[in-house]
Amino acid sequence: MEIRPLSAHTGAEVRGIDLGHPVSDDQRDAMYRAFVERSVLVVRDQALAPAQLLDAVGLFGAVFPQQNSRFAIPDCPQIHYVSNQDSYPDGRRYIPGDGWHTDHSNAVRPPKATVLHAVKLPNAGGDTQYANMAAAYDGLPDSLRDRIAPLMGIHVYQSSHSARQLMTLSNSDKERVPNAVLHPLVRTHPESGAKAIYLNPIRIEGILGLDHKEALPLLTELLEHATSERFQYRHQWKPGDLVMWDNRCLLHKANGDYDMDQTRYLYRVMLQGDVPH
Ligand SMILES: [Fe+2]
Repeated sequence: MEIRPLSAHTGAEVRGIDLGHPVSDDQRDAMYRAFVERSVLVVRDQALAPAQLLDAVGLFGAVFPQQNSRFAIPDCPQIHYVSNQDSYPDGRRYIPGDGWHTDHSNAVRPPKATVLHAVKLPNAGGDTQYANMAAAYDGLPDSLRDRIAPLMGIHVYQSSHSARQLMTLSNSDKERVPNAVLHPLVRTHPESGAKAIYLNPIRIEGILGLDHKEALPLLTELLEHATSERFQYRHQWKPGDLVMWDNRCLLHKANGDYDMDQTRYLYRVMLQGDVPH
């Protein structure tokens, strides 16, 4: 097994391992270390059936129950799918993951990681972009760091300020998804100790104690800073890729820039995280 970096600050590529076969503790520890240090772990050339994917991902943590059960795979509901072949009720095509966000930040304990495994990819396009929020935090001026240090973001299922509309939840899903949770705007990574900006344009409704006139421009300023190209890693998918990323210190977004007559279909699993501090 070989691990090598994919950019200056984010991403590590793993080759020479088949996660469908038993993995040694040393191999698992090396991959997990690379995940924590590099935030995006790309394991190449996998061909995992849903049950094998669950076993493989289970090496790195406990599965997090995803919020919208309409995307669950029937024979393996802990795994969801990401597809460009679904539509909103009004017939418009639904592109999951469009727009910068971190996954399920409206949970009390948001998922530490999201794993996608490519099943079917378009010939070109459909990259996933990542923004390294720890590097972005380090790049903030001191004055802005001091200003955001005590602030708490209010996260909901669907922010009224979001440019992207999510698929609505069924009534039974709504019962288990919290109405709103508070998370710090700056969180400390529980494993690396690095501080990172923690925001989510799709789910942040506001900042506790600030009115929108103050909160929204601040969130926009932070987002523009954090998603500038110098903090980004852009993942070009290859068949067989399994990508595990760290939601605690990244934003990500999908790109709907490919031929929509071609199917883009991936399995998605998330791993349980802890309460952001
Ligand atoms: Fe996402």
